[in-house]
Amino acid sequence: MASAARGEPAVLPTPLAKAVIDPHAYAEWDGLLDTFDLIRATTPVAKVVPQEEGLFEPFWFISRYDDVMRISKDNATFLNNPKPVVFSFNQAIEFSRAATGSDMLVDSLVVFDAPIHPKYRKLTQDWFMPRNLKRIEAEIRALAARTVDAMIDAGPELDFVEKVSGPYPLRVVMQILGVPTEDEPRMQMLTQQLFGGQDKDLSGTGMDQMSPEQVIQLVAGAVKSFEDYFAALAEDRRANPTDDVASVIANATVDGEPLPPRDMAGYYIIVATAGHDTTSASTAGAMQALAQDREQWARVRADRSLLPGIVEEAIRWTSPVQHFMRTAAEDVEVGGQLIRKGDWMMINYVAANHDPTQFDDPRRFDAARSPNRHLAFGAGAHQCLGLHLARLEMRLLFEALLDRVEKVELAGEPKRATSTFVGGLKALPLYLKAV
Ligand code: HEM
Repeated sequence: MASAARGEPAVLPTPLAKAVIDPHAYAEWDGLLDTFDLIRATTPVAKVVPQEEGLFEPFWFISRYDDVMRISKDNATFLNNPKPVVFSFNQAIEFSRAATGSDMLVDSLVVFDAPIHPKYRKLTQDWFMPRNLKRIEAEIRALAARTVDAMIDAGPELDFVEKVSGPYPLRVVMQILGVPTEDEPRMQMLTQQLFGGQDKDLSGTGMDQMSPEQVIQLVAGAVKSFEDYFAALAEDRRANPTDDVASVIANATVDGEPLPPRDMAGYYIIVATAGHDTTSASTAGAMQALAQDREQWARVRADRSLLPGIVEEAIRWTSPVQHFMRTAAEDVEVGGQLIRKGDWMMINYVAANHDPTQFDDPRRFDAARSPNRHLAFGAGAHQCLGLHLARLEMRLLFEALLDRVEKVELAGEPKRATSTFVGGLKALPLYLKAV
C-alpha cells in the first residue's frame, strides 16, 4: 500500500471519463472498446471525477481482468451496499432516498451483502441449478421451437431482436415466474423503463423528451407497478403453491419470518428483470457473429458439439451486463492505487472481457476459445444466479435454429442500445433461408 499511499491518485482525462458514463458511447461498440483499451493500457485503476460539482460521486474505473476478478471475489472488502449497485447520478439517488428511504428504488440480491445476502440467495439457489432446470427443459425446448417456427413464418427477412431474441428469453422468465402470456407486454415495457431507460427506442416512452425529474418519476412508477403486480402473484402462490420460482419466493422464510413485502417484491423484480434483456443481448450477439461468418453456421450445423463453445463465447463477446459498482469496506490497494474506505468503484465487465492479457485477440468471436473464463456473469458471492438457465435457453434456441435454418446473412446494419448498464443489440436485420 505504501507506494500508492505516496502518489496522487490516477484520474481519467475528461474525454475518457465522459465516455465511461455516456450511454451513447456504449452504442458505438468499436469506439467503446478502443476507449477501454486505452484506459486499461494507461491507467487501469483511475478515478472518474464529475465535471460539474454534485453530478455524481467520483468513482474508480476498474478495467483489467485480474482486478475485476479480485474485486468480485472479495465480497468482504468490496461491498455492494450501501451505494447503489449501478452507476447513478446524484439526482436519481436523492429521489430514491425520498421515495423509499433507501439509495436503491428496489432492494434485492444485488443490493445485499453478508450476512443477509447468503440467506436470501439460498432461497432460490437450488431452483436455478442444472439438476432442477432439467424439469423445465422440455418446456423451454418447445418454446424455442415455437419461436423459431413463428420466425420462419415471418421471414425470410426480419429483425431477429424483435422476433426472436427479445421475446424468447422474456417468455422463459415469465414462465418460471408464472406470469401469464397476456401480461408479458406489460412486463417487457416495465423492464425497459427500468433498464433501457437511456435508449429512446427501447423505453417506448419518449424519455429523451423528458426532464430528469420526469424520467425518475417514470422509473419509480415502473417499480411501483412491478411491486403491485408481484404482491398479487405472491398472494396467489401462497394460497395455491406450484413448483415455480414464484411459489418458492412467496413461501420463503428467512430466520423463521416471511420476507417483508419490499424484499419479496425486490426478489421478483430481480428475477423478472435480470433474466431477459441480458440473455436476449447475448443471443442476438451470437446470431450476429454467426451471420457475419457463413461458414461457421454450416460448420455448427454439421457438428452440434460446437454449440456450447458458441454460447459461451457469445456471452463473453457481448458482455451484456456492462458494469456493477462496489464500495470499499476498508483502505485497500488495487493496481497500485490506494482506494480509501467508502470509495465507490465501477467494475467494468466489457473492459475485463476484452483484456488481451486474458483473451487472445479479444474482439474476435472465437467459438473454439479455450479456456474461456470470462467475467460476463461476474464472480464471487453475487455471481449470476441465472447463468445455467441463460446457457440452457441459448443452447435450446440455437438447436431449434440450426434445425430449421440453412443459411443466415445480415440484411442491414445491427444497432446497439444506448445504455451504460445492460446493453446489446436492439435491432439485428437478418436474411434467413429456411431448410
Ligand atoms: C447472458 C445472460 C446473463 C448475463 C450476462 C448475466 C450477468 C449477470 C451479472 C454480471 C451479475 C452480477 C454478478 C456479480 O455481481 O458478480 C448477475 C447477477 C444476477 N443475475 Fe444474471 N445474467 C444473465 C442472465 C440471467 C438470468 C437468465 C437470470 C434469472 C432468470 C439472472 C438472474 C440474476 C440474479 C438474480 C442476479 C443477482 C445475484 C446476486 O446478487 O446474488 N441472470 N447476472
